[in-house]
Amino acid sequence: MKIIHKETLADIQNTKITRVDITCPHVVRKVEPGQFIVVMVSEEGERIPLTVVDKDIGKGTITLIFQEVGLTTKLLGKLKIGDSLYALAGPLGHPTEIKKYGNVILVGGGVGIAEIYPVAKALNEAGNHIDTVLGARTKSLLILEDGLKEVSNRVFVATDDGSYGQKGFTTDILKKLLIERRYDLIYAVGPIPMMKSVSLVSKQSGITTAVSLNSLMVDATGMCGCCRVTVGGKTKFACVDGPEFDAHLVDWEELERRNNIYIEKEKHICNLHKL
Ligand code: FAD
Ligand code: FES
Ligand code: MG
Repeated sequence: MKIIHKETLADIQNTKITRVDITCPHVVRKVEPGQFIVVMVSEEGERIPLTVVDKDIGKGTITLIFQEVGLTTKLLGKLKIGDSLYALAGPLGHPTEIKKYGNVILVGGGVGIAEIYPVAKALNEAGNHIDTVLGARTKSLLILEDGLKEVSNRVFVATDDGSYGQKGFTTDILKKLLIERRYDLIYAVGPIPMMKSVSLVSKQSGITTAVSLNSLMVDATGMCGCCRVTVGGKTKFACVDGPEFDAHLVDWEELERRNNIYIEKEKHICNLHKL
C-alpha cells in the first residue's frame, strides 16, 4: 500500500484534487469499474471510501483521485511518494453493469469526473456510443478531459463561470442532447445537487439513469448502517447494495440531510489539527 506516483491535478480557490497510484496487488486482481476501496491514512484515523479510478495490472497499482474536503483527505494529501497507507480494504460495492446499451450519456461533476472514468472506459470497450458531459466550477478545476476524450465519442464541457466550454451547468447540455437523439442510459456522478438535477431532467425523458451515491460510510461492509439511503421507499445500504442506484427512486432530500449531519464537528476537528 505504498504510494509510487503522486500528481496534483488541480489546486486553486481552496480546492485541491490529487491523483495517487498505490501498490495494492490484492485489489488490482479483482476490482471492476464502479467499485471503491476504504482507506485509513493512519492508525488513529477514520475510514473513508474512494473510488478506484484505474488500475495497472502489470505494476500491481490502483489509481485514486481525491479532493481535499476535510481532515482525512487533507492528511492523505500530505503523504509523499514512498509513504504507505495504514490500511486499505476492498474492492467494495457492486461493479457497474457493463454491456452494450447503445447510446449512453455520462455526466461527471467536480471530482465525480474521476468516478465516471472507469465506467466510460469499460462502456467504450463494450461498444457503446458515449457522449460525456463534464462540469466544473472553472477551467482549472476540470480533470481528466483528455482521458475521457479517448474513451468517448463526444465530450462536452460546462463551467459555472464560462471560462471553458459552455457557461452553465451539465444539465443545460444534457437537455440539448436529449432533444438531439434517443439515449438508452444516463450515468451520473458528482455533487448531490448535480445528480438530483440530472435525475429530474432525465425522468421527463423516461431514460434509465444510474447514479453512484456518496453517502457517509464507516465500515463499508453492511454492518453499521451509516450509509443508509432510501431508494424506492426501501432502506438500502449504499456500501453493499450500491453504490449505484436508480436515480429516479432516490430520496435526495434525505441523502443531502444525512451527508451534512457532522459538518460542524468536521470543521471543528480540522481546526484542531490546524488544517
Ligand atoms: P470531512 O470533513 O470528514 O467531510 C466532508 C464531507 O465529506 C462530509 O460533509 C460528507 O459529505 C463527506 N464524508 C465525510 N466522511 C465520509 C465518509 N466516511 N464516507 C463518505 N463520505 C464522507 N471522494 C473523492 O474525492 N474521490 C473519490 O473517488 C470518492 N469516491 C467515493 C466513493 C464512495 C462510494 C463514497 C461513498 C464517497 C466517495 N468520495 C470520494 C467522498 C469521500 O469519501 C469524502 O470526500 C471523504 O470521506 C471526506 O472525508 P474528510 O475527512 O476529508 O472530510
Ligand atoms: Fe456501514 Fe454501509 S457503511 S453499513
Ligand atoms: Mg472526516
